[in-house]
Amino acid sequence: MTAQDQTSHDQSEPTRRPRFRRAADIRRAFIEYFAAKPSPSDGHPIVASSPVVPIGDPTLLFTNAGMNQFKPCFLGQVEPGSPLEGLARATNSQKCIRAGGKHNDLEDVGKDTYHHTFFEMLGNWSFGDYFKAEAIEWAWHFLTGPESEGCMALDPSRFYATYFGGDKSAGLAPDLEARDLWLRHLPPQRVLPGSFKDNFWEMGDTGPCGPCSELHYDRIGDRDAAALVNQDDPDVLEIWNLVFIQYDRQADATLLDLPAKHVDTGMGLERLVSVMQNVRSNYDTDLFLPIFDAIERAARAPRSYRGKLGKDDKDQIDMAYGVIADHIRALSFAIADGATPSNEGAGYVLRRILRRAVRFGRQMMDAPPGFFAALVPTVVDMMGDAFPELRTKAEHIRSVIADEEDSFGKTLDRGIKLFDEVAASGSITGPDAFKLYDTFGFPIDLTQLMAAERGIGVDIAGFEAEMAKQKERSRAGAKSTAGSSIALTTDAVDKLKKLNIRPTDDSHKHAGRTTSAKVVAIWDNKNFDEHANIGTGTVGIILDKTSCYAEAGGQVGDKAKLDVTHERKIGNDHGGGSFRVQDTQAFGGYVLHIGLVARGEIRVGDVVAIKPDNAHRQPAQANHTATHLLNKALRDVLGDHVDQKGSLVAPDRLRFDFAHNKPVTDAELADIEQRVRTIISDKQVVTASIAPLYVAQGITGLRAVFGEKYPDPVRVVCIGADVQDVIADPENERWADCSIEFCGGTHLATTDEAEAFAITSETGIAKGVRRIEALTGKPALAAMAAAHAFAERIAKAQSLSATELTTEAKAIATDMDAETLSAASRAQLKGQLATLNDKLKDAAKAVAAETRARVEGEARVIAQNAAGSPNAFIVSRVSAGSDRQALQAACKLIRDKLPKHAVLLASADETDPAKPQVAIIAQAPKDLIARGIKAGDWVRVTAEAVGGKGGGKPD
Ligand code: SER
Repeated sequence: MTAQDQTSHDQSEPTRRPRFRRAADIRRAFIEYFAAKPSPSDGHPIVASSPVVPIGDPTLLFTNAGMNQFKPCFLGQVEPGSPLEGLARATNSQKCIRAGGKHNDLEDVGKDTYHHTFFEMLGNWSFGDYFKAEAIEWAWHFLTGPESEGCMALDPSRFYATYFGGDKSAGLAPDLEARDLWLRHLPPQRVLPGSFKDNFWEMGDTGPCGPCSELHYDRIGDRDAAALVNQDDPDVLEIWNLVFIQYDRQADATLLDLPAKHVDTGMGLERLVSVMQNVRSNYDTDLFLPIFDAIERAARAPRSYRGKLGKDDKDQIDMAYGVIADHIRALSFAIADGATPSNEGAGYVLRRILRRAVRFGRQMMDAPPGFFAALVPTVVDMMGDAFPELRTKAEHIRSVIADEEDSFGKTLDRGIKLFDEVAASGSITGPDAFKLYDTFGFPIDLTQLMAAERGIGVDIAGFEAEMAKQKERSRAGAKSTAGSSIALTTDAVDKLKKLNIRPTDDSHKHAGRTTSAKVVAIWDNKNFDEHANIGTGTVGIILDKTSCYAEAGGQVGDKAKLDVTHERKIGNDHGGGSFRVQDTQAFGGYVLHIGLVARGEIRVGDVVAIKPDNAHRQPAQANHTATHLLNKALRDVLGDHVDQKGSLVAPDRLRFDFAHNKPVTDAELADIEQRVRTIISDKQVVTASIAPLYVAQGITGLRAVFGEKYPDPVRVVCIGADVQDVIADPENERWADCSIEFCGGTHLATTDEAEAFAITSETGIAKGVRRIEALTGKPALAAMAAAHAFAERIAKAQSLSATELTTEAKAIATDMDAETLSAASRAQLKGQLATLNDKLKDAAKAVAAETRARVEGEARVIAQNAAGSPNAFIVSRVSAGSDRQALQAACKLIRDKLPKHAVLLASADETDPAKPQVAIIAQAPKDLIARGIKAGDWVRVTAEAVGGKGGGKPD
């Protein structure tokens, strides 16, 4: 095919009918090309795209490049047994989101032809295997080689390559090697040096990085477009980035040399497809056009998509099409991979993406509520073959989006209201503009537009200041370094390898018995030392083997004691020593025993007895086994959708986060708790074994964490069946009743060692994610005993007198709040307490009715006696205690019978003999008031006579 054949730019009549025309074919062609490079038997293994929400990398909100999942390969920190172990190459199409952190394209989406929040990155990688020459050669061949060889057959004269031109201030030399490799294919005027900004690629603030070479494509052709490279020209676009990873950026911004050199390439699928389909915009390809049709229907849009941009898109409807289509892809993939819109971190970014899309739909297209969620089936249909997780989670994705869209609809209306309110003051302040943006999803240009319509201003500087604060907050969400005080850097791991120190043999960690081992290195977080003593401070000791469990899979690392034993290397003799291990952590297969010397000295070469601290380890094991039982019970009671979202296994408690979109009811909690207790008292055996991944994945009833990378072979932990039987017959339906999980943690031998189980709380932590906290062992027994004691106290309270009961009921409620209880027991006890309080109320009512009847009887007698006497004054005592209502009723009764009398009634309340009280009530008719008999004065004088106070109106 000649260059002329390919360069036709007439969109309505493409002269070129390439073999790889559909996006799906192009994606497949790329992966197949590299899978077979350099030869079919020695190609790039196809590694599935990792989830778009990274698992286990706190430095990233979203997967922002294909290389993310391979970070340990670049850093030389692959854990032994990990599926990445021994991997020298890889290829795939990785799902990426660039909407937060270092790479953020959110605000550009809709404004040009090539920015996306979600996109696919076609990549090929070398981990210390091939380097620049092969990477450049293959990239060139794939793009320009013949279709018969699985290549794209693009016109070579359309390409420009850039290489890193060096950076003096950073002390980095130009990448002349890459330049010379490009010169084999391109004339010098199309091989261009680039800046640090364009040609030095970094994943985030820290991590692997290096110089890069980009391939740019000119959509127009037959011209010199060198000046347009990297100028955001829609017709001259970067399509492929070849990064030569050779540094590790540290938290203090220094660059450390990596032990090996790697290749990380990334080509935007959407861009390549636009080139292959001969259209000017990524959005005009079959990756988007079907979504536009769906939008037109769901949003009842006033017109179809026309592909106009900026000023040409007067009604901004094409912009809305682009924004909505991009955003529904991002949301669908992120939710399929386990994220949910929320108030922090990645969830917060998703919430903003969704609000942006919904607002564009509402504002530009007058779309009806629910239009956005209605697009999910289209995305699932289009992408479900390449990414089957979309199909599995289709309904979940739709319902999460529908809920969020619905609540935002209400927010939007409230936002418009807020705008009207704040606009009434004559201008929009920075904080108000930010609130509109942050809480109500109004981008600043919308607020400006609405303000301009009313002829008022917006404090943009104030808004920017609020934005800066928010960025700070979200940066704090993505931590840059991991937790422990002592950690092995990439460099340190490399040094250990160069010193021929083998990764720690941790095969004794599950048994956790006292073992003897040799000190092979001592790391003080900067250097490797020969010895450590009491004054040294916290260090990490590396042994040739260990029986300590290093933190992993949510289970905390062991504590232990290392005692120097008498066998020592000759010439290494010293008075011995003891080391207290406060935490155990692993880095690239090396286990660090982190802690302090407690006595004497520890030297490299010493033999030590490792004594894991059982008081720490045993309860952690109990909590781990109970976590598996809980996971199983949750599924049995709530349903199959209950995917694990997070787990913490500590000695004093366990925490388990899972997908479930409403609170777990008290009855469900009680059921879940009871199921776990039953298995604990059943004394079921817990067995574990290593099995080939393909066998283990076929086990009936298996619980695995979606998106997690499991090693092959994988460790399987079974409760309720012998793991060997399970592995021998994985598909047997019987296993559905057992708890079976992939897990590297430590466990009890039998479930009864957990002794007891209590769920202490159940809360929501994000939309669709619930958290359970629970206890085992002594703390659980204590919680159960406390519940029992409260139940007894409540039962006893039944027989108390009404007054005593009131005090006791209050005391029980306060004491219960302060006590750790199982959530189900707490709910039950609260119910009992409520019945008690109801009873109390009933009793009080009965007593009041009784008192009133009695006092009215007394009043009747008083009235009868007074009726016969000429005296117009009644002073008498009644037995109303301090019941005001009864006193008032007595007064009223007398007045009804003797309306011309003045009455004073007194009542003694002696329920507390130490504090006897008197209640006094009086009334006077009009004519007596006129003669100076005022009821208020009468009460005052009488009250004073008994040492009290009183008063009131004359009548
Ligand atoms: N990591 C590089 C990029 O994202 C190449 O894959 O551009």
